Amino acid sequence: MEDKNLRFETEVIHSGYVSNEHQGSLVPPLYQTSTFTFSTAEQGEKRFSGQEDGYIYSRLGNPTVKILEERLAVLEKGDAALAFSSGMAAVSATLVALTKTGDHILCSQGVYGCTFGFLQILKEKYGIEHDFSSMDSEEMVEKAILPNTACIYIETPINPTMKLVDLGMIAKIANEKGIPVVVDNTFCSPYLQTPLTYGCDVVIHSATKYICGHGDVLAGIVVGKKEWIQKVSRTTQKDIGGIISPFDAWLLLRGLKTLPVRIDRHCENTDKIFHFLRNHPKIETVHYPGDVDHPDYQIMKKQMKKPGGLISFSIVGTKETAQRFMNELNLIKIAVSLGDAETLIQHPATMTHAVVPEIERSKMGITENLLRLSVGLEAWEDIIEDLDQSLEKL
Ligand SMILES: Cc1ncc(COP(=O)(O)O)c(C=O)c1O
Repeated sequence: MEDKNLRFETEVIHSGYVSNEHQGSLVPPLYQTSTFTFSTAEQGEKRFSGQEDGYIYSRLGNPTVKILEERLAVLEKGDAALAFSSGMAAVSATLVALTKTGDHILCSQGVYGCTFGFLQILKEKYGIEHDFSSMDSEEMVEKAILPNTACIYIETPINPTMKLVDLGMIAKIANEKGIPVVVDNTFCSPYLQTPLTYGCDVVIHSATKYICGHGDVLAGIVVGKKEWIQKVSRTTQKDIGGIISPFDAWLLLRGLKTLPVRIDRHCENTDKIFHFLRNHPKIETVHYPGDVDHPDYQIMKKQMKKPGGLISFSIVGTKETAQRFMNELNLIKIAVSLGDAETLIQHPATMTHAVVPEIERSKMGITENLLRLSVGLEAWEDIIEDLDQSLEKL
């Protein structure tokens, strides 16, 4: 679409797609094909040499996938995007593209468990070191950056403790030193937070979560500068090959259309649940960036449109108490994903962060009685009633 001033709610439905170019089909067509035919051998030669634009083979590009990529680039306010077969395919392709043996990656205090696992692989097999920092102040970040720091990798809010990192502050320091800042924006989606507008360089999503929104696709997204995205597309993505299937891209285009409506509802429900949990005698602590007493509340106000649909809390008691509480829930499902219509609960210490050694887990604030709730789209009264009846049984 030509008009650059459309609002997010409009872009999420229209950008990247011109129906006249597709027989007037209202919905983007699904190009479920592995390869594309050339009219002549010479045309094939020209496509491969780059003399002529056009599709060659779906690992190198596919029209349905391209619509998704263009739409996400617009939503994240970036130049270009690439879609992957999972969030981890996006994370690994990005880190491989940005680093080489001998480099160092500076990470936020907490990262998703499999990202932690991939950082270990980089360290053990390829000599790429990493450190974690709570990134609480400029001095702390300046001190944590080493001469060989090749990128800064941030999750905010941090999974699952909901601590925030000040994106503008990090980008200012990193930009001065020419170090790219990568942000995993999974928890927010571009509706709540656009890290590139704060000076960060690359945004990653596990599109499996809010971008899909329906729990039926695994996918990843990377957004950044055109030149860099093109390079990743021709190297790391093409040669490692973790590309999205056209059908999954089509499902994501379908899910995306309702993103703002869904997130507004996720946020509304989460706020109600926060007020319920905060006042409950069997709840020890609640971590929610919308809490005015949350240490990073001001950062939330600065860089997030709303506090989001995730909340974590610790139950008074032990790991066994937390597990008993989960087992007594009826409506809320025990599962490790987020951003779906269904409310999901998980136990980070034994599930998403089980691979993280206990000492690192405790530095990240992941205790044995901590639970994470991905608040769904059900009636908030029903979610609270389910939490309440299970707490009563403890
Ligand atoms: C913050 C975050 N980043 C990345 C990932 C990995 O995404 P995927 O499961 O789509 O590979 C997840 C998965 O839960 C996540 O929560």
